[in-house]
Amino acid sequence: MGLLTGEALTTLAVALAIFLLLVDLMHRRVRWAARYPPGPVPLPGLGNLLQLDFQDTPHSINQLRRRFGDVFSLQLAWTPVVVLNGLEAVREALVLRGEDTSDRPPMAIYKHLGFGPGAQGVILARYGHAWREQRRFSVSTLRNFGLGKKSLEQWVTQEAACLCAAFEAQAGRPFNPQNLLNKAVSNVIASLTHGRRFEYDDPILLKLLELIQISLKEDTGLVPEVLNAIPVLLNIPGLASKVFSGQRAFMATLDELVTEHRESRDPAQPPRDLTDAFLDEVEKAKVKPESSFNYENLRLVVADLFSAGMVTTSTTLTWALLLMILHPEVQRRVQQEIDEVLGQERRPEMADQARMPFTTAVVHEVQRFADIVPLGVPHMTSRDTEVQGFLIPKGTMLFLNLSSVLKDEAVWEKPFCFHPQHFLDAQGHFVKQEAFMPFSAGRRSCLGEPLARMELFLFFTCLLQRFSFSVPTGQPRPSDHGLYAFLVTPAPYQLCAVPR
Ligand code: HEM
Repeated sequence: MGLLTGEALTTLAVALAIFLLLVDLMHRRVRWAARYPPGPVPLPGLGNLLQLDFQDTPHSINQLRRRFGDVFSLQLAWTPVVVLNGLEAVREALVLRGEDTSDRPPMAIYKHLGFGPGAQGVILARYGHAWREQRRFSVSTLRNFGLGKKSLEQWVTQEAACLCAAFEAQAGRPFNPQNLLNKAVSNVIASLTHGRRFEYDDPILLKLLELIQISLKEDTGLVPEVLNAIPVLLNIPGLASKVFSGQRAFMATLDELVTEHRESRDPAQPPRDLTDAFLDEVEKAKVKPESSFNYENLRLVVADLFSAGMVTTSTTLTWALLLMILHPEVQRRVQQEIDEVLGQERRPEMADQARMPFTTAVVHEVQRFADIVPLGVPHMTSRDTEVQGFLIPKGTMLFLNLSSVLKDEAVWEKPFCFHPQHFLDAQGHFVKQEAFMPFSAGRRSCLGEPLARMELFLFFTCLLQRFSFSVPTGQPRPSDHGLYAFLVTPAPYQLCAVPR
């Protein structure tokens, strides 16, 4: 350094600045292509990072949509992004152009969890052989879950009984239902992945739940966006383990469970659950080097199912109970239908749904109104494509604004109100709606949708069969305005559950 004079240093700094500007221009040149979607002007290096409020990204996105239309572009540092809004654009991108739009952007921040070419899990797997293999495996394991001794529906019904007992133990006193719902839904995933449930005070379950909440917080905000956009920062020693300590601890806890399970696997017996079925595939894959069935991937697949399947479903149920205490007339009509179809004794089964159009409409409307994954999970184009006449080059990150579909003013009669009639015809029959897209659509749509629907219907119906829910006396009416942190959750609230 001593050899560099002040003049040489200045020359070096100018050269470096010019070099960086050129690299920046190279990344931005895509914006000048014909028919590239319009968008706010990006700053050198940072792009539009500072123009988005990552504490409430959906709000920023909706404001930009008003300025630039249904298909607009952003630049997150050097990553080009196109945002798709409204039923028409989202459907065209996901369904019509599904072959071009089903890749996932590389997420540098997950490397520290073991994510790499040989182990990609399902949710973030690149669109290709490993994803196809793992998606098929998870879907068929979920579908054939007569694997163990009990069907998944029986697991859910049994868990619903445990949940009702825990609600009853509150003895009509005010409580926040979120924790108990988290525990019940986690047990359904645990039954799928590990063939077991946990008592609600089991320290392993309590630890998993706490770590999932911490991990979710670590996933949102400016820091992970900046680290993904500028992955070189992740090389700063100790940074990843400090910023993502919750995620690492969550994986370590799941690892313990998987190890315990591997040790108790008896290959002579049929698989007890998804983990056993995966271990069998690992054995078969020993002669197939291209296979994605390996121990590193097992932990990622299990983590994916836990994280994708738990918080989503329990958050939706938390919304469902909130909306019932805010709309007692809807709650009464659901209970009336339950009394007519099931009575007080018989527990609900999925087959009852066909005879319970009002309850089915309410569950759908809860999902539409709650809108819990407003921006979906990012996709990426795997080749040049076109949406609504705009050109989107290969390698562009896509944000699918599911919220803009679930609340599309051109489709829904009262998009911003809780209105179960959205799913009922004049005769009170249930009607499907194309813009009902809480699970997204196309090749990457939620693979847990059948399980989630089963849990929502059975837990919700069991709870309303057994209890009437109300705002605790003397407490203000809770707000139905959600809080965003990747998922949209209701602000913490309390209710009273009085046995019927
Ligand atoms: C109410 C509950 C749920 C909601 C609202 C929901 C929503 C979603 C959404 C919006 C996506 C992204 C789709 C896309 O990229 O286009 C997704 C993906 C996924 N979900 Fe769900 N989900 C729920 C429950 C579940 C459950 C119970 C499981 C598993 C047991 C699950 C497993 C997954 C997986 C593995 C993916 C990644 C699929 C892929 O990339 O191919 N989800 N979910």
